[in-house]
Amino acid sequence: MSDFIAIDGPAGSGKSSVSKAVARSRGYGYLDTGAAYRALAWHVLDRGADTDDADAVLAAASDFDLRLGLDPDDRTVAVGESDITTAIRDPRVSDAVSGVARVPAVREQVNIFFRSLVAAAPYPAVVVEGRDITTVVAPDAPVRILLTAAPEVRAARRAGELAGENAAVVAEALHKRDASDSAVVDFLNAAEGVEVVDSTELDFPQTIDAVLAVIERKQGAE
Ligand code: DC
Repeated sequence: MSDFIAIDGPAGSGKSSVSKAVARSRGYGYLDTGAAYRALAWHVLDRGADTDDADAVLAAASDFDLRLGLDPDDRTVAVGESDITTAIRDPRVSDAVSGVARVPAVREQVNIFFRSLVAAAPYPAVVVEGRDITTVVAPDAPVRILLTAAPEVRAARRAGELAGENAAVVAEALHKRDASDSAVVDFLNAAEGVEVVDSTELDFPQTIDAVLAVIERKQGAE
């Protein structure tokens, strides 16, 4: 039985790269829950269904053969026979995923999948990153962290990742994403007992160290 290391945060907070690095450094598994929502959005689109139609999304979710590994160095995502590791990052999937993630029955089903993956994981703990891990998926996790950064810093980081994109356009897209995602779950404010790591003034190695420090402190206190 693995422990959850629950990490939530908005887009551009550095959540994915930091969570992966933390998992590697501790020999833990890593679960990108956003990838599961993206895979479901891909699956709905692949069936030619409408991602804003809750019934169509639920029907697709009940016939969804998702494979998502926990190895931080193997980020393969597959649905059935299709390797969709790259496809889930396409703008058409990014644009569709909020519609899929807003269906409560879908979230319940996906959360059961996450909990069973972690329960059966061959690691002492799994770093699970998303939007509602600290609050809904694993509210009793021994370590719960909200990784944040100021909106302008997140936008600048995203613009840096997407070389050639206009910074103002990226900031606008990020703002829209935050608004539609936070209408489903609040990941901009820490729930009670959740530790905040604000990476606004931190570089990548410093952010990893800050997260590792929380993990060590929490585990030491158990
Ligand atoms: O972190 P990401 O951008 O890959 O997430 C993709 C989408 O899934 C995003 O719209 C937020 C949503 N999501 C969610 O609702 N709950 C999670 N635990 C993880 C992601």
